Amino acid sequence: MYIQVTNNGTQFHLTNGRLSYIFHVMKNGQLGHLYYGKALRGREDFSRLQAYHVQTGNSTQLDDDSAFSIESFRQEIPSYGKGDFRSPAISLRMPDGSHVTNFVYKNYEIKEGKPSLPDLPAAYANNKDASTLQIRLVEKRLKLELVLNYTVFHDLPVITRSVSLDNRGLDRIFIERLMSASVDFPEKDFEMVHLAGAWARECHIKTRQLQSGIQSIGSARGASSHHYNPFLALKRFNTTEHTGEVYGFNLVYSGNFLAQAEIDHYDNTRILLGINPFRFEWRLEPDECFHSPEAVMVYSEEGMNGMSQAFHDLYREHLIPKHWQKEIRPILINNWEATYFDFNEEKLLAIAEKAKDVGIELFVLDDGWFGSRNDDTTSLGDWKVNKNKLPKGLKHLAEGVRLRGLKFGLWFEPEMISPKSNLYESHPEWAIKTPGEHPTLSRNQRVLDFTQDEVVQFIYEQMAQIIRETELSYIKWDMNRYITEAYSSGLEADCQDEFYHRYILGVYKLYDRLTKEFPSVLFESCAGGGGRVDPGLLYFAPQVWISDNTDAVERLKIQYGTSMVYPIYSMGSHVSAVPNHQTLRHTPLSMRGDVALFGTFGYELDPGELTAAEQKVIEGQIQKYKQHRALIRDGDFYRLINPFETNETAWMIVSKDKHEALIGFYQVRAMPNWRRQQNVRLAGLERDWEYVVDGQCFYGDELMTIGLPLPEEFNGVNGATAKRSGDYQSHIFYLQLKGKQN
Ligand code: DGJ
Repeated sequence: MYIQVTNNGTQFHLTNGRLSYIFHVMKNGQLGHLYYGKALRGREDFSRLQAYHVQTGNSTQLDDDSAFSIESFRQEIPSYGKGDFRSPAISLRMPDGSHVTNFVYKNYEIKEGKPSLPDLPAAYANNKDASTLQIRLVEKRLKLELVLNYTVFHDLPVITRSVSLDNRGLDRIFIERLMSASVDFPEKDFEMVHLAGAWARECHIKTRQLQSGIQSIGSARGASSHHYNPFLALKRFNTTEHTGEVYGFNLVYSGNFLAQAEIDHYDNTRILLGINPFRFEWRLEPDECFHSPEAVMVYSEEGMNGMSQAFHDLYREHLIPKHWQKEIRPILINNWEATYFDFNEEKLLAIAEKAKDVGIELFVLDDGWFGSRNDDTTSLGDWKVNKNKLPKGLKHLAEGVRLRGLKFGLWFEPEMISPKSNLYESHPEWAIKTPGEHPTLSRNQRVLDFTQDEVVQFIYEQMAQIIRETELSYIKWDMNRYITEAYSSGLEADCQDEFYHRYILGVYKLYDRLTKEFPSVLFESCAGGGGRVDPGLLYFAPQVWISDNTDAVERLKIQYGTSMVYPIYSMGSHVSAVPNHQTLRHTPLSMRGDVALFGTFGYELDPGELTAAEQKVIEGQIQKYKQHRALIRDGDFYRLINPFETNETAWMIVSKDKHEALIGFYQVRAMPNWRRQQNVRLAGLERDWEYVVDGQCFYGDELMTIGLPLPEEFNGVNGATAKRSGDYQSHIFYLQLKGKQN
C-alpha cells in the first residue's frame, strides 16, 4: 500500500519502502505535518511525532487547550494570520482587505497513476508506477477549496506535490502566494546546497550551513535564470556524495521562483518552494481555479549522488516527452562559433559536407538566418529567411543539407522582438513596456508580450510554417534576455502582478502546441546558455544548451554542477575550436571530446579548418560516442571527483545491469613529481563481478575500494612523459563485465 490512511481517516502515510511522508488532521481541522524521511513501517497513529505541551508565550488556537499552538507545530500548508508567524505557504487577500484564512480538512481521494496539471508541465506516470493522494481542504467562511495533490512514485524515492485553489464563493479573491512544496522539519542541523552562477558560469555548487532566520534563493527575472536554479537540497553534515541523507527539492517551472529555508526560534526548519511571491498576485474570480506548479521532492539515503540519480530517473522516465525517452539523439554540428552571423549557403553547405565526412548526423543553423539580421541589433520577430544571405531560401538550404546526408535544424528566439524589425513596425504594442517608462534594452532586444494569445498565435504561425516548409528535424529555442518593465496592456490594473506567471504560461502554450503538432522535431531549449535549465522546459525539450561556455575546463564544473539535478543526456555539450571563444584557453582536442562525451554530443566549429590529423581524432570521438550513447542515455551517473575542490574531475556512467561503464578522468594542471600512483575510486559496480578495463581484470570491490589505476601521465612522471602531456589531460576508460566484451 503506497498510501495508507489510518486513525479513522485522519492520518496519511505515503511510502514506497524508500521514504515515508506522514501528515494528519489536527484537532483544529488543519493539516499537521508529522514526518518526512527514511521509510517507516506503517502504524495506526503517528501523532505522537508532534510534541504536545504548553510552550509559554505561544498563540493558542483552541480556547480550551493551551498546548495547541500552530506557532510551533509542523504543518502541511501553513497560512497567514492564525498564530504561525513563520513564512506561510499560502496567503490570500480578500476584497475587504483582510488576509486571514483557515483551511480545514474536508475529504480525500486516492487515484492510481498521476493526473496531469492543467496548462503546466508536470511529471507523468501510469497506474503501475505511481499513486496519487488528493486532500481537499475548505475555507468555510470564504467558500474556498484547496486541493493538495501528492504523488508517490512506486520505484523511486520521489514525491511530487502541487496545490490548487478553487473559488466557490461569490467574491473575487487575490492569491498573494501559493507555494508548491512546504515541509517542516523538527531540526536545523542541515547544510543547504544549491546551484548558482551567471552567464557562462552556470550551476556552480554552493553549500552553506543553515542559520537561524531565512536563507533563500530565487529569481525575479522572468525566467528560472542563470543565477539560481530552482533547486535546493538539505543534507546532513556527514552526508557525502555517496552516503548519508539528503532531501532534494526542485520546481517544475521556468519562471520566477523562490526556494527558501527558514529556521525558527525552536530550531525547526521550514522549506518553501514555489512561484516567487514577489511581484505575484493572482485574481481569482468565483468559479475559477488556480494551479500551482509541481514541486519534486527526493529523499536519498545514498548521498548527493543518490539524490541526483532519483532526479535523473524521474526526468528520463516521467518528464521528458515520451517519444524521446528511448530515441537516440543525433550528433549535431552548430554553425554559431564557426561563422557567427557571417555565412552564406556555400559556407554552410561546406560545413555540412565536412561534418558528414566525420560522421555527424544533424546540421543546425543558428542565429542570423532571418529578416535582415547581420548582427544582434535587428530582425527578431521576422521569422522569414534573410534573402541577402540565403537567396535560394531556407528550403533549398535544408534540401542541400539533407542531400549531403544530414538532418536539418534551425535556431529561433520566439519570445523576442528587435526594435529594428518589421514586426516592431507593425506591432510595437506587442513589446513589453510599462507605460511612460523608457524600455530597457538587453542585447539590443525587447521581449514579446507572451501573456497575450494573439502574440503567441502569431509566432506559432510563423514557426509552424517554417517547420513544415523546411521539414525541420530540430529546433534550438533560445531566449537571450530577462524581462524588465513587466506590464501588459492586455491585463487590467489589478491583474498586472499576474504578468510573470501568464508570460511563462504563454511560453508553455507555444511549446505545447509545437511539440504536439510536430512530435518528431527535437527541441533543445536554451537561454543564452543556461538561463532556463529547469524541469519545466525538460517536459517539452528533452535537451538543453546548459551554457554558452564551451571551454572544456569550465565545462567540467558546469556539467558536474548541472548533473546534481539533470540527467547528462539532457545536457547539450559540444566540442569547440581553440583558442576557446569564451576563455581564450587552448585545451587539447582530446580533452574537449572527453568532456563533451558525457552529454548530448555535438560540435561547434568549422570542420573545414581542421587538419587531417584533427579530423581523424574527431572521427574517433564520434565513433566512440555512437558506440556508447545508449549507455549515456540510460545509465546511472556517478560523480567521483569534484572539480570545485581539486585539480581533477572524474565521473562515470554505469549501465543499469552493471555490465558496462564509461569513466571520464580529467586533470586541469599538470603536476610535476606528483603522486606515485593515482587511482580513481569507482562506484555503482557489482562488488563480486570481474570487470575488464584496458586489458586488465579487476573485481568490482577492488575498483570501488582501491580504485582504477590511472595511466602514467597522471602519476608523477617527470621529463618526457610529463612534457608530452602537459596541462588539460583526460582519459576515458571503458569497462565491461568479463566475458561480455564486444
Ligand atoms: C545564445 C546561445 O546560447 C548561443 O548558443 C547562440 O545561439 C546565440 N545566442 C545566438 O545569438
